Amino acid sequence: MSYTIALNFEDGVTRFIQCNAGEKVLDAAYRQKVNLPMDCSDGVCGTCKCHCPSGNYSLGEDYLEEALDEDEAQARQVLTCQMIPDSDCVLDVPVAAAACKTGISSFNATVKRVTALSESAIELVVETDGSLNFLPGQYINIQVPGTPQVRAYSFSSLPGSNEGSFLIRNVPGGLMSQWLSHKAVAGAPLSLTGPMGSFYLRDGERPLLMLAGGTGLAPMLAMLHTLVQQQSTRDITLLYGVNSDDDLVLGELLESFATQLPGFSWLPVVAASESACPQKGYVTEHFTSKMLNEGDVDIYLCGPPPMVNAVTSTLQALGVNPAGFWYEKFIASQSAAA
Ligand SMILES: Cc1cc2nc3c(=O)[nH]c(=O)nc-3n(C[C@H](O)[C@H](O)[C@H](O)COP(=O)(O)OP(=O)(O)OC[C@H]3O[C@@H](n4cnc5c(N)ncnc54)[C@H](O)[C@@H]3O)c2cc1C
Ligand code: FES
Repeated sequence: MSYTIALNFEDGVTRFIQCNAGEKVLDAAYRQKVNLPMDCSDGVCGTCKCHCPSGNYSLGEDYLEEALDEDEAQARQVLTCQMIPDSDCVLDVPVAAAACKTGISSFNATVKRVTALSESAIELVVETDGSLNFLPGQYINIQVPGTPQVRAYSFSSLPGSNEGSFLIRNVPGGLMSQWLSHKAVAGAPLSLTGPMGSFYLRDGERPLLMLAGGTGLAPMLAMLHTLVQQQSTRDITLLYGVNSDDDLVLGELLESFATQLPGFSWLPVVAASESACPQKGYVTEHFTSKMLNEGDVDIYLCGPPPMVNAVTSTLQALGVNPAGFWYEKFIASQSAAA
């Protein structure tokens, strides 16, 4: 029996290690050549302190109050030299990956399929020789074949298999968009580096409000697949905003989530005034008090920067301060912007 521990470093890099039953995280990391911060390795100095946002673990009683006080332990701060996981865990490590003599992982992949779901959205499915571990919601960098440039894409699939899928906006004239639309064929090699990012599904019981703009649906799909796997009964609402009716994709998949997750419902919202969709305009115009639940809600928001900014300022204007709030902006790459 072993548990998977996701180490989220300060610079956004995530590394996954396996921790055997009864093994301390610091020892497991060291065994896998990740030198987590440490000094005494005995619960005395506090150098190995990290935050554990999800997962179950025990710390024992063999550490000093000076290394970790009660308030810190209550707030899920842990000493990795004492921590023994009882489940898969996520750890926020307060230093860069390089400081732990580790770095971002690389994967060689091949294109399995590329499907134009609409004029504006492409689904890319890749196969890798190793298992693709990531936290549901995270992204990976894909090198545009034949160029040194990379583009970031959020996984839309379930972690842990050697197949990964992505939902990608077909940006007119875009480097990766053009490659995917005109050149990508099954078997074409791809180079991936990651996973990255702090936008991922947290454990909890609170109602979930997912707000997706266009292909910002991708990380929500990875989260929904995971919630199905967890047989979650959480109350989950997805507002899926797009520009036109043609941009609405994967409706059947969303419907299938509704049959597998008892608390799930979703609403499309279309900006175009001539749309046949009952919900017109922007997602911010379709918040209800039930969705916002007086702030007792975990909100996950992903899409183009203007949408993310609009949601943030609408919540502020409504005086809603959500208990949990995470967002990912699909910012165009620096090289493209230049
Ligand atoms: C963390 C992160 C995760 C991301 N995940 C996804 C994802 O899951 N799915 C996805 O579709 N995209 C995602 N993106 C955006 C993605 O990385 C690329 O920027 C996008 O796909 C465009 O790449 P391209 O090579 O086709 O176009 P580029 O060659 O990068 O761009 C061509 C031109 O279009 C402009 N442009 C680029 N993107 C947009 C846009 N969205 N709207 C309008 N103009 C644009 C550029 O400024 C440039 O002028 C993510 C970005 C980040 C930072
Ligand atoms: S390394 Fe000193 S308390 Fe863990």
